[in-house]
Amino acid sequence: MNHPEPAAQEVAQLREQLNEHNYRYYVLDDPSVPDAEYDRLLRRLQQLEAEYPELLTPDSPTQRVGGEPLEGFEQVSHEVPMLSLDNAFSAEELQAFEKRLQDRLRHSEPLEYACEPKLDGIAVSLLYENGLLVRGATRGDGSTGENITSNVRTIASIPLRLRGDSIPPVLEVRGEIYLPKAAFDALNQRARDNNEKTFVNPRNAAAGSLRQLDPKITASRALQMCCYSIGRVEGFELPPLHSDVLHLLNEWGLRINSEMAVVKGAEACQAYYEQLGQKRDQLPYEIDGIVFKVNSLQLQQRLGFVSRAPRWAIAYKFPAQEEMTQLLDVEFQVGRTGAVTPVARLEPVFVGGVTVSNATLHNMDEVERLQVMKGDRVVIRRAGDVIPQVVKVVLEQRPDDASVIELPKECPVCGSEVERAEGEAAARCSGGLFCGAQRKEAIKHFASRKALDIEGLGDKLVEQLVDEQLIQTPADLFSLSLEQLSGLERMAEKSAQNLLDALKSSSTTTLPRFLYSLGIREVGEATALSLARHFLNLPALCDASEEALLEVDDVGPIVAHHIYTFFRQAHNLEVLQDLQQQGVSWPDLEVDLSARPLEGETWVLTGTLTTMGRSEGKSRLQALGAKVAGSVSAKTSMLVAGDKSGSKLTKAEQLGIPVLDEPAFIDRLAQLESKR
Ligand code: IVH
Repeated sequence: MNHPEPAAQEVAQLREQLNEHNYRYYVLDDPSVPDAEYDRLLRRLQQLEAEYPELLTPDSPTQRVGGEPLEGFEQVSHEVPMLSLDNAFSAEELQAFEKRLQDRLRHSEPLEYACEPKLDGIAVSLLYENGLLVRGATRGDGSTGENITSNVRTIASIPLRLRGDSIPPVLEVRGEIYLPKAAFDALNQRARDNNEKTFVNPRNAAAGSLRQLDPKITASRALQMCCYSIGRVEGFELPPLHSDVLHLLNEWGLRINSEMAVVKGAEACQAYYEQLGQKRDQLPYEIDGIVFKVNSLQLQQRLGFVSRAPRWAIAYKFPAQEEMTQLLDVEFQVGRTGAVTPVARLEPVFVGGVTVSNATLHNMDEVERLQVMKGDRVVIRRAGDVIPQVVKVVLEQRPDDASVIELPKECPVCGSEVERAEGEAAARCSGGLFCGAQRKEAIKHFASRKALDIEGLGDKLVEQLVDEQLIQTPADLFSLSLEQLSGLERMAEKSAQNLLDALKSSSTTTLPRFLYSLGIREVGEATALSLARHFLNLPALCDASEEALLEVDDVGPIVAHHIYTFFRQAHNLEVLQDLQQQGVSWPDLEVDLSARPLEGETWVLTGTLTTMGRSEGKSRLQALGAKVAGSVSAKTSMLVAGDKSGSKLTKAEQLGIPVLDEPAFIDRLAQLESKR
């Protein structure tokens, strides 16, 4: 059937809108409309294309995942080989690099460089003909790679058609496909939950996701692309600087790294390296170094290549995040909730910038999945400030005397029986607060920042106080005397007095903080807040049945059961009573649903909110009277910047708009909501 003209027009308009939204969302990191609006447009387009199949084109935003799984990957030869980079590992090597360039160019002035984070992913080539994406290929050995077009098409930040009118007839761009840290963690968590094999690092996960014969799997993996160079261009004159080429790619709709900067001289490169090194853990993706490239394309050409690497670029590496070492022994630690966790004792190894001699093995399921034994050679990974992990066993190097890791039958701290509930990964000490280890952890948690926030009461001090038998429960903290405290090793009278003052000031608290501080299993900050808002006071919560608990937002049957049991245990009730007798107090909450303290304010949420998600944040703000907008402007009252906030944060900072991070946002909500 022939389509009517208005349908063709609407299809074209929808595509243009969808492409624009995609570009803003994935390339500029600055979405302009809510997801629901995007979905609505996409559905309308799908509907029209189904009705008038002749209007369907391969670059339609509906055509990212299509077709059947492949039999295998075809080979692709790269007309211009995909090269690798020389490495530098120290400031001296970086200086030597610049010196080599200056000598070769007979030039004594510092050179100009483009600095780019070295993303740790998979190098790919994208071929655009007259603006249309016609091929995606892996680097392979540099001359021959694999055709992964159908997988590449599923990656939202890769345009199926380039933007703008002035685009080259032939353009081959190169860049890195990678899996952001959050997506990697989620993927591995899912694998763990299903008792499947986990990926060692985001790079392996990206490679595994990209080499899927079924594009639907690739599509489910939240891969990202970032472009860093041009392989081939025809019928187009490139600007003279590499940095301008990148900006041009960005205008054509391709993603480039927002950290890219242009600097002069090796010293400035060193400064950039150090600055980004500081930022490394906060970046939403893994980087393993910085790439410095001579910015002038003309100089690049004069410098040329040696074997398989350009003379005009160098990769200055950060300390490796994975190293191999020997697992000497496994000890079992007991946590706050009694979870008995296997911890690997290692032959010390330098990894991720520090010397590591312990790594977590999580639980016995993980021990089984890794097939790890005492004595094994293992791969340790330490990324950012996350606890070091054993990610892999080198089975080929297993020594003959390797021995099996067994869960102890008795708690290594208190001797109570260790239980492992059906369907639960963690084994637990059944001793409860009888167990010294659990007592220590419970008190540490009670004192921690998001709980009663007792300044000066760190983990070491709690351990000392419990070991010296000065305290047994959190309530005992409040009857400590100056003499007892100043009698402790390494405790001056001044700090003892400070601690007493801190205890006094922390004893006036809020109901949500108090509930959180109790360390009830699975009751985090957000749940504590929901409980407080729902029950308004402690006696009401203590008396609540499991059914009544289930009515609270985000409380499911398991959490309800934990809460119910907690308030049915005599020793817990005793601690609650003692705490109140010692003067720990908080105002009860009152409900006045009509109070709208944020009336007239416009808030913007960006980045990932890990404890509640953006939609919950939004509805709670709206309940307080705020308007929640999608973009930052001079009218914005407040920006809430979660993890991985991008351009909106920058913009807010430029406009001088106040910013709250997630913990501060949660506090602010709690404050405002508790006044209602
Ligand atoms: S430039 C001739 N820039 O590092 C230029 N490479 O060892 C070659 N990589 O396989 C690449 N981020 O996958 C360049 N900003 C960046 C990069 C980058 C990551 C990877 C790339 C390549 C490897 C080179």
